[in-house]
Amino acid sequence: MKNLILIGFMGVGKTTVGRLLAKEKGMLFLDTDDRIVSEQGTDIPDIFSRYGEPYFRDLETELLKRMQEDTKNTVVSVGGGMPVREENRMLLRSLGCVVYLTAAKQTILRRVHNDGSRPMLNGEDLAEKVEQLMSAREHFYRQAAHIYIRTDGRSARQVMQVIGQETRRFMAERPVSL
Ligand code: S3P
Repeated sequence: MKNLILIGFMGVGKTTVGRLLAKEKGMLFLDTDDRIVSEQGTDIPDIFSRYGEPYFRDLETELLKRMQEDTKNTVVSVGGGMPVREENRMLLRSLGCVVYLTAAKQTILRRVHNDGSRPMLNGEDLAEKVEQLMSAREHFYRQAAHIYIRTDGRSARQVMQVIGQETRRFMAERPVSL
């Protein structure tokens, strides 16, 4: 397999599970947010407040394009908004096997509560914001994904094991060049 790509809403555990998975499988690990932050030399809230969301989204697409050339044997944790753009969904799928991690709204809310590092969740009513964004994005996540996995009630290690089983099954059924 070329790469394993983890997508899903903020707080679903993409980065935690992705790191574990990479270690377990002897693969490299790449977090798109971390890469953008290190390339821009500043954090995500600062990028949003100085240049706005569309600028950040362009950085994401530009990074995904570059990754097509040189990303191999890597578990990639993808910023939660990346699959919203159609172009990005195609780029993600051509990068490798795309795994959509889901969690119930209450689980997400617990994890992202009091977190100032996610500008998309700024505002008065966090529950309302999460609800609205989750339902607006669900369709895009499903369109981008090859595999869908629930994380509720599972530890990061258990999620990692399920990803291993499901990707093996997927690859056996679809021996394409992923
Ligand atoms: C975003 C998710 C964040 C980060 C940025 C925007 C989003 O990544 O890319 O704050 O629009 O869902 P995580 O999903 O890793 O929190």
